[in-house]
Amino acid sequence: MKNYKVVYFTRTGNSRRIAEKLGDKLACRVIEITDNMNWEGIWGFIKGGYYSSRNKVVTIKTSEEIADYDELIVVSPLWAGEIAPDTKELLKTVEKNKVHLIVVSNGSKIRDKSDYKSVNSIIKSKKNEDEVIDNLIDDLIKN
Ligand SMILES: Cc1cc2nc3c(=O)[nH]c(=O)nc-3n(C[C@H](O)[C@H](O)[C@H](O)COP(=O)(O)O)c2cc1C
Repeated sequence: MKNYKVVYFTRTGNSRRIAEKLGDKLACRVIEITDNMNWEGIWGFIKGGYYSSRNKVVTIKTSEEIADYDELIVVSPLWAGEIAPDTKELLKTVEKNKVHLIVVSNGSKIRDKSDYKSVNSIIKSKKNEDEVIDNLIDDLIKN
């Protein structure tokens, strides 16, 4: 099996839960992206939508260096139809064709799926979290 790392950003914990499940199943490192912003509360929500839809840049750091991997699994919330600004920033630094993207949302899917190794949507209203995780793990183990 290839050497995987799971990387995630979260505001309310869903992406962390999913990243940790993936990390457990793949027995690999799980790395958190954080930033210089305060996304809490209703103003944080509004700011998040604004930053995401306008492609505003945030300053990110990761809980450990992202190195020595074959492929990354990147877990991100969907904000205003796009991956969250932190994840966008991270993806500027890695090759998209080494990334399995998992987008976490309440109801909608990401529009731009270009160049990634794979893109999956975990959608709260579809209750498909474990199914998507298990299918991805099966695919990764085969390769
Ligand atoms: C600023 C903002 C914008 C969002 N926009 C969308 C959206 O366009 N479509 C959607 O289905 N969910 C949207 N959501 C909901 C989140 O994608 C969803 O709650 C997700 O599970 C949050 O992940 P987290 O717990 O890892 O932060 C938005 C949430 C925030 C904070």
